[in-house]
Amino acid sequence: MAELARVPLIAGNWKMNLDHLQSIAFVQKLAWSLKDARHDFAAVEVAVFPPFTDLRSVQTLVAADKLPIGYGAQDVSEHASGAFTGEIAASFLAQLDCRYVIIGHSERRTLHGETDEVVAAKSVAASAAGLVPLICVGETAEDLETHGASAVPVSQLAIALEGLQKNADFVVAYEPVWAIGSGQAATPEQAQQVAAALRAVIAEKLGDEAAARTRILYGGSVKAENIAGFMRQPDVDGALVGGASLDVDGFSSIARYQKHVGV
Ligand code: PGA
Repeated sequence: MAELARVPLIAGNWKMNLDHLQSIAFVQKLAWSLKDARHDFAAVEVAVFPPFTDLRSVQTLVAADKLPIGYGAQDVSEHASGAFTGEIAASFLAQLDCRYVIIGHSERRTLHGETDEVVAAKSVAASAAGLVPLICVGETAEDLETHGASAVPVSQLAIALEGLQKNADFVVAYEPVWAIGSGQAATPEQAQQVAAALRAVIAEKLGDEAAARTRILYGGSVKAENIAGFMRQPDVDGALVGGASLDVDGFSSIARYQKHVGV
């Protein structure tokens, strides 16, 4: 497959942590820490995914201080507007200058019953509003035993891509459910194997050009100590980081993985 320069993305999924006041302090500190370390934001993109209630504060801070940090939401409604109590429309997120939105995180799938079809509909809604869907896929420990590593993520992604245009900008995160929050990350080789299979799905559904330019992240117990191994894999273009994204120094160190490739 044609090699295209894909700018790596280090994404911090805060989950239900940090209120809007804490989000301001955190993003400010993160920007200082990265700037202090002369982080090259054009070489490795950094984005955070705070709770909905933080987004307006993060937007104001990022705009006022012109911070080179991207941000997005952790979920979005598949609907444009209407009687959907508690839901947030993609257009609302676009108005807050969100660049990304996480869709189909395993916690949404297991705790909130999100199906592959819902994930597909949300991806279409996000893309139509000008957001970049960050589509999460991944197998459970049981799936791994029964079907091997790539079968479930491959079929999840095939459905999720169903409604997207060939030129749609999106990101895929491969997050084995057994690796999320467990301290038990996949090996870089496991991540590479599934990432390559996911890239093949993108090629099949949306063409070679889409496959070559789309970033595929690994997620699941990523930390400063293991990021370099994942980033050395040809099909892994970044990480979706949960727990370790809540510590400014740790997250900043993950984003600067190029400085500790030998770790
Ligand atoms: P973790 O979470 O880094 O804490 O394993 C990753 C995620 O759920 O996105």
